Amino acid sequence: MSASAKLRLGVNIDHVATVRNARGGDTPDPLRAAKLAEEAGADGITAHLREDRRHISDSDIERLMETLTVPLNFEMAATQEMQDIALRHKPHAVCIVPEKREERTTEGGLEVAREENRLAHFIAPLRDAGCRVSIFIAADIRQIDAAHRIGAQVIELHSGAYCDAHHEGRFEDRDRELEAMRAMSAHAHSLGLEVHVGHGLTYETVQPVAAFPEVRELNIGHFLIGEAIFRGIGPAIAEMRRLMDEARG
Ligand code: PXP
Repeated sequence: MSASAKLRLGVNIDHVATVRNARGGDTPDPLRAAKLAEEAGADGITAHLREDRRHISDSDIERLMETLTVPLNFEMAATQEMQDIALRHKPHAVCIVPEKREERTTEGGLEVAREENRLAHFIAPLRDAGCRVSIFIAADIRQIDAAHRIGAQVIELHSGAYCDAHHEGRFEDRDRELEAMRAMSAHAHSLGLEVHVGHGLTYETVQPVAAFPEVRELNIGHFLIGEAIFRGIGPAIAEMRRLMDEARG
């Protein structure tokens, strides 16, 4: 796997479902957003089926699997229920994320190092079913080495702390977080892991991360869906794509 290959953009459509669910009806439809994202150049669609179904629903996953022409990255907690659903649908990729009911969003990375045995057993059937298994973790060498040992093919680094520090004007913290992600992208790549990054990315924060040669995919949702209110989803995605390509040089 060479560094600096094409950088893919995965568009997370969870928050189209958040708006739909605010009224309990059928609109706006996340599937329609996914099709428009495909047309606008998304390389994949990401959807997180949370245990409490607060945004994406089981039927959304079914319809995405039936309709998408780009790969689906299915985000899920490491529970038996979610494993059963993933094994039924066999999406292109499964991203294992930590989940707490009381959190507003996925606040931290998965604690792989402390749960190595359980997670190794948990992901084995998913790998056997042909899913690429990704683990959402902090830029922490212990977690990356553990993700490698349990047999994950992909890691996704949590960029939330970097993005929060940027938008709150804590630039020393931001730069330290960015440096940690840079170093850990290179480390993970040297182990043969494919590196993705996601969470909280915006037009202002995307370029330094997109410039890491080892990063193969960015997963971006909340900001793009918000920006789509003002620009439309196609133009919002096209601008993100342009910034990523510019950073990649
Ligand atoms: N990647 C992972 C693993 C996530 O859990 C999320 C949020 O659901 C994202 C990327 C996208 O984050 P955001 O919506 O903040 O862009």
